[in-house]
Amino acid sequence: MGPEVRIAPSILAADFAALGSEIDRVAPAADWLHVDVMDGHFVPNLTIGPPVVAAIRRHSDLYLDCHLMMSNPGDYLEAFCDAGASSCSVHVEVGGTAELIRAMRDLGVGVGLAVNPETPFEAVEPWIGAVDLLLVMTVHPGFGGQRFMAEVLPKVEAARRAIDEAGLEVVVEVDGGIDTTTAASVVAAGARMLVAGSAVFGAEDPAAAAGRIRRAAVGAP
Ligand code: DX5
Ligand code: ZN
Repeated sequence: MGPEVRIAPSILAADFAALGSEIDRVAPAADWLHVDVMDGHFVPNLTIGPPVVAAIRRHSDLYLDCHLMMSNPGDYLEAFCDAGASSCSVHVEVGGTAELIRAMRDLGVGVGLAVNPETPFEAVEPWIGAVDLLLVMTVHPGFGGQRFMAEVLPKVEAARRAIDEAGLEVVVEVDGGIDTTTAASVVAAGARMLVAGSAVFGAEDPAAAAGRIRRAAVGAP
């Protein structure tokens, strides 16, 4: 028996014109729903904001894992919480991490810290005792469908080691290029929550695809 692995389908790869039914199709196999918020500044792409999160919340009870790829997430945390976000992850690269963590705690939302591929583990290490979720990017943020970066695996291992040594329950989540061929390596490195966009919504049956990734992740047939 391997570790328990959970899957967070990323709606970035869903058909936005049919978001409700896309969510319904994946819901039976989704532990969380990953919501990619891009501001056209921190990353060179624009996606969705609080009104869409509110619409999803009216449609679904799923845990909404909001990944804020934004330069000024602090200006929008309250709006995402009001919209029904379950957790928000802010990037360590934008700075002001202590204030952002405090603001998320005060709002009562799950506290996530995200880290880009080129940013070392040492940048997030001071905060691991203060967050619920560490989101390790395994592609450069901004777009779905990119190639998985295996060079990030040592950072996942470092995170797992630090969290276990401190006896913490922080969720280690990986995001980018996760599919049936890469899932086992991230779980072996210590990830327990796998975001998958194109590998799930690009499949004929998204729920079945999420199930295949979960099984591949733990080496089950
Ligand atoms: C990339 C996003 C990811 C993206 C993953 O910036 O943060 O969540 O949706 O998509 P795939 O699984 O296609 O790499
Ligand atoms: Zn994401």
